[in-house]
Formats: sequence, structure tokens, C-alpha cells
Amino acid sequence: MTDTPSLLAAAAREQGNTLPVWFMRQAGRSLPEYRAIREGIPMLESCRRPDLVTEITLQPVRRHDVDAAIFFSDIMVPLAAAGVDLEIRAGVGPVIADPIRTAEQIHALPDLDPEAIPDIAESVRAIRAALPPHKVLIGFAGAPYTLASYLVEGGPSKDYARTKALMAAEPMLWDELCAKLARISATFLRVQIDAGAQAVQLFDSWAGSLAPLDYATRVQPHSAHVLSRVSDVPRIHFGVGTGELLRLMGAAGADVVGVDWRVPLDEATRRIGPGRAVQGNLDPALLRAPWEVVADRARDVIRAGAAAPGHIFNLGHGVPADTDPDVLTRLVALVHEEGPALRAAAPAR
Ligand code: CP3
Repeated sequence: MTDTPSLLAAAAREQGNTLPVWFMRQAGRSLPEYRAIREGIPMLESCRRPDLVTEITLQPVRRHDVDAAIFFSDIMVPLAAAGVDLEIRAGVGPVIADPIRTAEQIHALPDLDPEAIPDIAESVRAIRAALPPHKVLIGFAGAPYTLASYLVEGGPSKDYARTKALMAAEPMLWDELCAKLARISATFLRVQIDAGAQAVQLFDSWAGSLAPLDYATRVQPHSAHVLSRVSDVPRIHFGVGTGELLRLMGAAGADVVGVDWRVPLDEATRRIGPGRAVQGNLDPALLRAPWEVVADRARDVIRAGAAAPGHIFNLGHGVPADTDPDVLTRLVALVHEEGPALRAAAPAR
């Protein structure tokens, strides 16, 4: 075995006798120490204060012994830094002051100057300096479609109707919007990587709302542009409800495809095709079940993940706010203690 951190080895499909684990939204409201430090401080403000970002990013690593820290920020931070008037409302999500619906607004959307976010680089450096060498710092950004959905809808949406209508009716304008968002996301990722982030995750959380043809023609090229600008580190690409898009999301330029809980990892591996690792995919809802149920389902995930040439254990989406953090700590221990043997014992495919 080399000294490569387990998450980087798995992403490179050379994981040997390890099974790395982290959780989307591991830094957040499930932790009492997070709720305490965030008390009275708006979300966007906390994302711009290196003291808070550093402490919050490290909290779940200390508590759970996960193999990676995910940078504490939000997909909307680079848009706010570029000058888009928005807030992140507790219990709601991003809310845009003037939703983007006209050609003029799209033409006027500003670019992100890396010099506008020196605090992001400062936070990344402080986190990397404090993290043990074998723990990986993952940077992230939102993918153009998911960012566009917030800008166009004005906030969270169930059906993304205005976004899809814009895409279908005004493909040139749509491409202009997404090309701008791709540049902003790529800049946000480059700042994190240049300051010390060792892997990145591109969140296209709501891509699963799209038909494969629309995804392939109007979304994938823009995500591919972002991923091509960060090809010096392993790239994880994730969305919810993407069972029909897994191959296309991998082909956008991902080393690791994140899979939600709807498709078992062996079937996901078949759909993705050769040459890519997987990340996932325990159903977050199960975290409320009795421990033995959680443990058995986690073992099923690990066995199915053995079909892939690399597996990073995670949930199928973010940690629910009301999760008992002790369940997460036990889950990390199970993955570390039982994972390698379960992976090795699974039938070769
Ligand atoms: O631990 C981590 O995963 C790192 C931090 C992180 C946050 N947001 C912090 C956050 C990450 C990676 C994100 C990404 C993000 N933000 C996504 C993609 C991931 C996903 O869930 O699919 C999306 C769609 C957003 C937009 C957004 N921001 C939503 C939907 C919400 C939740 C609204 C709510 O309150 O339920 C936010 C706010 C947010 N981002 C919180 C956190 C910890 C909660 C804010 C709080 O604690 O007050």
C-alpha cells in the first residue's frame, strides 16, 4: 500500500484494502456544535468568515472520523460574490431578489473575479493546514443547470417549469446563461484547488428533473466545460434522481459518479460504463431506523459497490437536519471496520 489518502485512491480506482467514507451535508444542522457556532449569523455571512468556515468544516471530521472534509460554503456563494442579490433563508434555501428571466438580465449577469473571494482561499489554506495528512479536503461548486434553476425560478422549485421553458424556447439565451455560470463555477473551484483542495464535487442536484436528450444537448456541455477546467484533481459529479443520466454525467468528465439511493451501485456501475468510480448511496431516510437496520443496509451498499472499480461510501443525498449524529459516527466505524472485507468477499463481476 502507498500513503495515498483512501479517498484519492478510490477515485483513482486503486483503492486496495480501504473504503473511504464522508457524508454530503456532514457539516450542518445535525451537529449541536454547528448550531451553536452559527447562532444568529446568516448563512452567507458564515460562508465568508474564514474562522467560522474553518471550524465548521473540521467539526464533522473530528466527531465522525470521516475520510474527507467538504469545504463549508454553498453553491450560491460564488453568485453572491459576483454581485447577484440573493439570500439563503433557513429552512427554505436560496432566494433571488430579481429572478433572471429576460435577455437583458442574462447579458448583464456579472463574471466572478477571483480577487473578490480572497477569504475562500484563506479558509481553504487554514483547513488544509489543520487537517491530518490522510484526510482529504473536497472543494465544490454548483453545476450550471442547478444554479440556473435557482436564478430563473427565484428560489427552490418542484417542477423547474420556468427553467425548462427557457431552455426549450430560447436555447441561445439558455446557453449564454449556462456558459456564464460555468465560468463562475470553474473560477470558484480553481480558487479552492489552487489554495489546497485535493478533489472537487460538482453538484448538479436537480439534473434528474431533465429528460436525457435535454440533458445531453443543453446541460452536459456546460458541466463538461467546468469539469475540464479542474482536470488536475479527481472530479466527483453528483445529482439526485439521475438514474437515466448516470452515463451522461460520467461522460461529462467525472472520475467518480455520485449516485442517489434509487439505483443500486452494481446497476449504477453497469449504466455508467467502465473506467469510473462511484460514490454513494445509502438512503438518508434510513438514518432514522434502528441501528441494525442501518447497518444491514450499509452492508448491502458496500457489497453492491464492489461491482465498481472504486467506491467512496456516502449517503444518496445530504444528511437530514434531524439526524442523530451518533448514528453517523457508528456508520463511519462500520464502513472502516467491515468495508474492506465485505468489498473483497463480494463476487467478482
Ligand atoms: O457539509 C456540506 O455538505 C458542506 C456544505 C454545503 C452546504 N450547501 C451548506 C449549507 C454544501 C456542499 C452545499 C451545497 C448546496 N447548496 C447544494 C447542493 C447539494 C444538495 O443538497 O443537493 C444545494 C442545492 C444548495 C442550495 C441550498 N443551500 C439549499 C437547498 C439549502 C437548504 C435550505 C434549508 O435550510 O433546508 C441551503 C442552505 C445550506 N447550505 C445549509 C447548509 C449547512 C443550511 C443553512 C443553515 O444551517 O442555516
